[in-house]
Amino acid sequence: MNGNISLNHIGIIMDGNGRWALKQGKNRVYGHTEGVKNLKNILEISIELGIKYLTVYAFSTENWKRPKSEVDALMFLFKEYLLNEVNNLNKNGIKIVFSGRKNGLNDSLIKLMDDIEEKLKYNDKITLNIAFNYGGRAEIVDAVNKIIKETDKKIIDEEDIQNHLYQSNIPDPELIIRTSGEFRISNFLLWQIAYSEFYITDKYWPEFNKEEFMKAISSYNKRERKFGGLKI
Ligand code: FPP
Repeated sequence: MNGNISLNHIGIIMDGNGRWALKQGKNRVYGHTEGVKNLKNILEISIELGIKYLTVYAFSTENWKRPKSEVDALMFLFKEYLLNEVNNLNKNGIKIVFSGRKNGLNDSLIKLMDDIEEKLKYNDKITLNIAFNYGGRAEIVDAVNKIIKETDKKIIDEEDIQNHLYQSNIPDPELIIRTSGEFRISNFLLWQIAYSEFYITDKYWPEFNKEEFMKAISSYNKRERKFGGLKI
């Protein structure tokens, strides 16, 4: 049990790796390396708490605008994470899915992502949804294009879009956490967050530890969720 009200799916914008590193005189890539370590930690805690889905924003469609050296480092860290962790993830019953566009990614990375999704697909302790080369607007556009391609519909409804999202079987996140104090959504899960609760903390992602995670969950547990209705 993870609290008083249902909490199955948490989305996290893991922001602040760069600032965290610079604050201690290190380079930005060091911050991302520590960010990966923290993801492992938060994933473990999520399992302990009985969370069923964790969606993390690892690389956005806008992140290509960063210097090539940083983009390369993020690609490298992502690949290393997948290669080094796959057996551990499997042993711990973790399923991995990826959300985002494959075009722009290197062929060997795409192959690795496909193989890992396949290898871990029967695991059911938790699903880690890694948003990589992901944009919320792009996801909606891709969904609409899939509908156009697959059906002869002239008018579509919400269910059509829902059914063509990257992960149409994952329920909407009840809680979105953003680290490092920015009050914006940055193109993350635009469709799915219609009724999500938000928790924003000043902590940078590498310092968002168990204690901070529990603060986010306890804040969520105090919310009154009305979904546009009235409190009964
Ligand atoms: C934001 O920090 C973070 C990112 C753009 C990438 C997040 C990536 C990781 C935690 C590592 C890679 C992920 C996996 C799954 C291996 P920032 O660089 O925008 O920080 P800043 O706002 O302080 O500059």
